[in-house]
Amino acid sequence: MAPKSVCCGLSTLEMLFIMLFVLMTGVSMGLISVMATKWNVDSSPEEPSPTLGPTARPPGNPFLVGVGRADCTGPVGDVPLMGYANLDQTAGGIHTRLYSRAFIVDDGSKRVVFVSADIGMVSQRLRLEVMRELQGKYGNLYRQDNVVLSGTHTHSGLAGYFQYTLFMITSKGYIKPSIQAIVNGIVQSIDMAHKNLKPGRIFLNKGELEDSNLNRSPHSYLNNPAEERNRYKSNTDKQVVVLKFTDLHGDGLGMISWFAVHPVSMNYTNRMVSGDNLGHASYLFEQEKNIGSLPGEGPFVAAFASSNLGDVSPNTRGPYCVNTGEACDYINSSCPIGGELYGGAQREVRGVLHAAHQWVNMTDVTVQLNSTHTVKTCKPALGHSFAAGTIDGGGDLNFTQGAVEGDPFWDGIRDTLLGPPSNETQDCHQPKPILFSTGEMKKPLPWHPDIVDVQIITIGSVAIVAIPGEVTTMSGRRIREAVKQELETQAAFTNTEVVIAGLCNIYTHYITTYEEYQVQRYEAASTIYGPHTLSAYMQLFRGLARAIAEGTVGELPKGPEPPFFNDSQLFSLLPAVPVDRKPENTSFGQVLEQVLPTYKRGEVASVTFVSGNPRNSGDMREKTFITVEQYHNRTQQWDIVHTDASWETRFHWVKGSGAQSNATVEWHIPPSAQPGSYRIRHFGHYKQLKGLRPVITAYEGTSDVFRVS
Ligand SMILES: *[C@@H]1O[C@H](CO)[C@@H](O)[C@H](O)[C@H]1NC(C)=O
Ligand SMILES: *[C@@H]1O[C@H](CO)[C@@H](O)[C@H](O)[C@H]1NC(C)=O
Ligand SMILES: *[C@@H]1O[C@H](CO)[C@@H](O)[C@H](O)[C@H]1NC(C)=O
Ligand SMILES: *[C@@H]1O[C@H](CO)[C@@H](O)[C@H](O)[C@H]1NC(C)=O
Ligand SMILES: *[C@@H]1O[C@H](CO)[C@@H](O)[C@H](O)[C@H]1NC(C)=O
Ligand SMILES: *[C@@H]1O[C@H](CO)[C@@H](O)[C@H](O)[C@H]1NC(C)=O
Ligand SMILES: *[C@@H]1O[C@H](CO)[C@@H](O)[C@H](O)[C@H]1NC(C)=O
Ligand SMILES: *[C@@H]1O[C@H](CO)[C@@H](O)[C@H](O)[C@H]1NC(C)=O
Ligand SMILES: *[C@@H]1O[C@H](CO)[C@@H](O)[C@H](O)[C@H]1NC(C)=O
Ligand SMILES: *[C@@H]1O[C@H](CO)[C@@H](O)[C@H](O)[C@H]1NC(C)=O
Repeated sequence: MAPKSVCCGLSTLEMLFIMLFVLMTGVSMGLISVMATKWNVDSSPEEPSPTLGPTARPPGNPFLVGVGRADCTGPVGDVPLMGYANLDQTAGGIHTRLYSRAFIVDDGSKRVVFVSADIGMVSQRLRLEVMRELQGKYGNLYRQDNVVLSGTHTHSGLAGYFQYTLFMITSKGYIKPSIQAIVNGIVQSIDMAHKNLKPGRIFLNKGELEDSNLNRSPHSYLNNPAEERNRYKSNTDKQVVVLKFTDLHGDGLGMISWFAVHPVSMNYTNRMVSGDNLGHASYLFEQEKNIGSLPGEGPFVAAFASSNLGDVSPNTRGPYCVNTGEACDYINSSCPIGGELYGGAQREVRGVLHAAHQWVNMTDVTVQLNSTHTVKTCKPALGHSFAAGTIDGGGDLNFTQGAVEGDPFWDGIRDTLLGPPSNETQDCHQPKPILFSTGEMKKPLPWHPDIVDVQIITIGSVAIVAIPGEVTTMSGRRIREAVKQELETQAAFTNTEVVIAGLCNIYTHYITTYEEYQVQRYEAASTIYGPHTLSAYMQLFRGLARAIAEGTVGELPKGPEPPFFNDSQLFSLLPAVPVDRKPENTSFGQVLEQVLPTYKRGEVASVTFVSGNPRNSGDMREKTFITVEQYHNRTQQWDIVHTDASWETRFHWVKGSGAQSNATVEWHIPPSAQPGSYRIRHFGHYKQLKGLRPVITAYEGTSDVFRVS
């Protein structure tokens, strides 16, 4: 029996919560409006200084390339982490900061942008807000068709940036400070890449990474036709694709790497914000290239982006490598291979750029299977196995994966509260037993999207396919083949490398093959547009690829525009920060548990401070809640050696009863630490009332000086 925990499954509490929520919204919209927080959209503080329009192309046909990275870490207290759909897993500090990494390429007449952000997934709301900002700053330069936004799928990023009801429920609503941090981080990373544009070159390399991922639904995979499976040596993709960006002197500017694995090395008990395995690979690579820089600083940008990870776990020995922060096999092996592939990349990517994008009503796609047969996609619905979760974390309810019969108990509750799924939807989703007929649930806002983005950008003969969800291994392979086949009808695309970029632009859960769908494990139960979801996407991506190959992108219909719900329609279930309290006779920032006088390398220095709620600190992007500082006798100065972005530090924010909280800072002293005198500091803000008015005050705390020998 696979270990059960909570990935993306639902606990009893959540299930009841969802049901109560529906009941409540159905019965009394008044309650919602009491809970609803209305937000004023901040206008962007920074004025743009864009060099608009395509820039003259230098001789010898290089591209213009630009890379940028910006912090997108939101409020690290109280906000649920996005991934395991566990409302108890709220943020409590930072292991590593989250970054958006942007890459811009210009061929002299066209431009494309690829962004990989350390977040669970890109949501439609997030994309629409980013595109509005870009439109305001750059006019028509960065558009729906030429900007791809991809999430790494870390399960330790912050939630709260969705506009559809199901995701709002598992996020405690639409949380303005949370989405604002991600929007600002993404836009700033694009601003930086834009300002850094210079003549440069791009190289492609590919390799294989063994023993770093495993298929967590092998039973579903085995339902794919034998002759198809026989063409592959493994039930997960082992390939790593690397794009290396250099200037004209060959000096490295950045890299993008794609590898299929779920960033769930941190399990659902983790409370610290973290980039998980892919974020850590970026961290190590950037630290290696930006010598002497603190994490998150330095010009070299290394994105480890997501791919066809739908059924792919990193937990090759079961879920073991977790919030202790121990390095995983995957982390250890991915970085060297990334480095090797980067170092050895010689196949230069040349040619021109293309971008094709469409909005599609995915509830209503007719798929031409062959000359005689058509099939249709369905209104969205989630099956019973959705609530069961996966080996990386499953629901604690009585749901098991592979269920093709409903559960009378939960079906009964569901039918009473939500109404049964229509016969039409049930028939369409066969053999999925429907748990939530989300396509038929519209209150207070639609539970799932109808309108979905499909998009391909090409850089020479590299095609990046932006997938609006999590594709399984075989689904990804089929899409790659289909796109390659369409593109290679034209000589310019001979030997095209097709990359599956995961979790792009909008989140629609999973995409399995038709055969995998029949087994109804977690991934199939979460394939929301029915058994022909993949076939529909293949038809759509083929259409985009054909238009690119034939030069008819301009004739593609734009498709129906997705809704942008008014802020007043969105709701937040996250209570305001209460007034912070502290133990009697202490002050904020005071040390409650002191460091020891001396430590050896390899040990953990730890100090606990009286703390305020980190949400009081507002926008902390590119700042830090903690420092580890070393004293230098020569300069008589304290120098910062680590921040809260560092892998070696843990900033644990622990909320107690009665609005008291502690900040415990750990420094896992690395073998490379210099012997000497150190101190640890913590910076925060607390809220108090002056009369009836809340006032926020900054505080700081400093540990005793300790020696490291
Ligand atoms: C999650 O991680 C913690 C910390 O390492 C560990 O103690 C716990 O056993 C893990 N839980 C599961 C279900 O893997
Ligand atoms: C990964 O590498 C680090 C340092 O190189 C080592 O301490 C650690 O044990 C390795 N982890 C695994 C799981 O091999
Ligand atoms: C999508 O298509 C369905 C079926 O035609 C239609 O009922 C629905 O309104 C469409 N959705 C949107 C958002 O236009
Ligand atoms: C078309 O596909 C359907 C469903 O897979 C199949 O039953 C039928 O035989 C196919 N027809 C042709 C002409 O290939
Ligand atoms: C769980 O499911 C099993 C088998 O379907 C059933 O016998 C059992 O009563 C269920 N338990 C609960 C707590 O619903
Ligand atoms: C749905 O199907 C069931 C069983 O076939 C039938 O009894 C019922 O009347 C149908 N409901 C509607 C609304 O058509
Ligand atoms: C959304 O806001 C706009 C402008 O404030 C208003 O015209 C429109 O009616 C609102 N729509 C809904 C559905 O509330
Ligand atoms: C707080 O300080 C006051 C005055 O020094 C003292 O009387 C009281 O016992 C202290 N309370 C605690 C809990 O230490
Ligand atoms: C720095 O100065 C202190 C106090 O004078 C001394 O104990 C320590 O050994 C010195 N450290 C180094 C690295 O010279
Ligand atoms: C804070 O730390 C102190 C000292 O270890 C402990 O007594 C107290 O319970 C902690 N408070 C919270 C809220 O964790």
